Amino acid sequence: MFISAGAPTRSFRTARPDGQDWLIAAGKEFKPGDPEQQRDAIADLRAWLLDCFGIQALSHLWTNEDFRPMDGVAFVGAATASQPDLLVATGFEAWGLTQGAVAADIIASTILGAEHPAADLLRANRVRPLAGGGTFVAENSKIAAHLVGDRLLRRKVVQVEDIGPGEGGIVSKKGEQLAVTRHQDGSLSAVSAVCTHLGCIVGWNATDRTWDCPCHGSRFDESGKVLTGPAVSPLAQHAWDPSAP
Ligand code: FES
Repeated sequence: MFISAGAPTRSFRTARPDGQDWLIAAGKEFKPGDPEQQRDAIADLRAWLLDCFGIQALSHLWTNEDFRPMDGVAFVGAATASQPDLLVATGFEAWGLTQGAVAADIIASTILGAEHPAADLLRANRVRPLAGGGTFVAENSKIAAHLVGDRLLRRKVVQVEDIGPGEGGIVSKKGEQLAVTRHQDGSLSAVSAVCTHLGCIVGWNATDRTWDCPCHGSRFDESGKVLTGPAVSPLAQHAWDPSAP
């Protein structure tokens, strides 16, 4: 696997699943639920693949979320002090290939009752407020900005006529913000755009055709069903028939 030393981070590797050579490339980061940032990242990846490898058309395209602990170290081991048998491994910060192997080793040691030299460093129930303090404040400020800007200022809103086949957009209807999808046959469907975790407004992910939340990364399918938490409830169904005038 090759990874760029500078920013934006780009990486690639080859794969041979069926005797044929494939190139798997990853482009720069974007926040979930921000369609513009996502468009920009994908355009950048396409331009880079054309420039470096002469690749004109992609066979597959998808997005992925990487969870990033504030102090930069994964969470591995007992989820809470009161539940020592509930073991977790998360927050690999896009480095599951390496941190996942370390996590497996720690968890195996924990189950066997053996000490592991990295167990305390990656302890899942640690609290290190100073290590991630600046990031914590910055990220929560962004979440507050989404709650106010997206909800009250309705800054994501589009007109339903501007949503093309296979696309989604946030539409304001009678004071509510709705996540509206136009299907390939031209028909429309709508669910509430309010994330069921803590109430931020979701954004359309045109690559995966999902509704993604910019605040804590919950993802929902076109019908509002939860794909990824922390949300556990689907986006509320809405009675409005967007096909009606
Ligand atoms: S408000 Fe949507 S994930 Fe937290």
